[in-house]
Amino acid sequence: MVIILCNLCVLWLKYFMRVLITAGPTREKIDPVRYISNYSSGKMGYALAETAMKKGHSVTLVSGPVSLVPPKSVRTIFVESAAEMAREVRRLAKSADLVIMAAAVADYTPAKFANDKIKKTNTSITLKLKRTEDILAGLGKTKRKGQLLAGFAAETSDLLKNACLKLARKNLDWIVANEVGKKDRGFSADKNAVTMISRNGKKYSLPLQDKKSLAEKIIKILTTEHTD
Ligand code: PMT
Repeated sequence: MVIILCNLCVLWLKYFMRVLITAGPTREKIDPVRYISNYSSGKMGYALAETAMKKGHSVTLVSGPVSLVPPKSVRTIFVESAAEMAREVRRLAKSADLVIMAAAVADYTPAKFANDKIKKTNTSITLKLKRTEDILAGLGKTKRKGQLLAGFAAETSDLLKNACLKLARKNLDWIVANEVGKKDRGFSADKNAVTMISRNGKKYSLPLQDKKSLAEKIIKILTTEHTD
C-alpha cells in the first residue's frame, strides 16, 4: 500500500508544473488621461490559466488591465505597462517550469510621459515612441535547463513563416501562431484558431473553436509533449 502511494506521489510530482501565464494588453501612458494599448481582452490567457489550474498545476497569472474576473485559486498579479509586466515576469519566471506568454505586450511606449494633460492646438503633433523590452526574448536568454517557454505569435500575414522566426529568435520551445485582424478570432473574440510549432518541428493545427476548449488542447500539448 505504502509503495503504491509513493509511486503515485512520484508520478504526480513528475506531472505537476509551476506555470506562469501572461494575459491581456499593456497600457503605455502618454499623459495623465491618455495611453497607447491594443484590443487584447485577456480571454485567451485567462482560459489557459483556468485550464492549467484545473489540471492540478500551480498557476500564477500576470495580467494587464482587463475586465475579466481571475479564475479562483490562481494567484493573479495585475500590471499596467510593458515595463511593469517585464519586472514581474522576470521575477516569477525564476521559479516557473512552464511560461506561456499570451499577453499582447506593447512594442513601443511614449519616449516621455507628460506630467500635465497635453493641450489641444490647431496643428498636428508628433508623438515620439521608444521600444519596450522584449520580455520573452529576455527569458529565452536566461532559460533554465528543463524550463519550457511558449510564446504566442499574432500575425496578419505569413503566419507560419513569421511565427517560426519568432520561435527561433526568442529561443522558445513552442510558438502558438494565431491569425489576427479578423472579427471571428484572435483579439477580443470568444474563439481562436492556432497552429502550435515546437522547436523540434512538431506541428499541431487546432481549428477555430471557443478559447476555453482551445486552452485545454494547448495546455495538454504543452504539459505532455517533449520538445527535445
Ligand atoms: O486577449 P485576447 O483578446 O483573448 O486575444 C488573444 C491574443 C490574440 C492577444 C493572443 O492569442 C496572442 O496572440 N498574444 C500575443 C500577442 C503578441 O503580442 O504577439 P507578438 O507576435 O507581437 O509577440 C510575440 C510574443 O512575444 C508574444 O508571446 C508576446 O507576449 C511576447 N512579447 C511581445 C512584445 C514584448 N515587448 N515582449 C514580449 O514578451
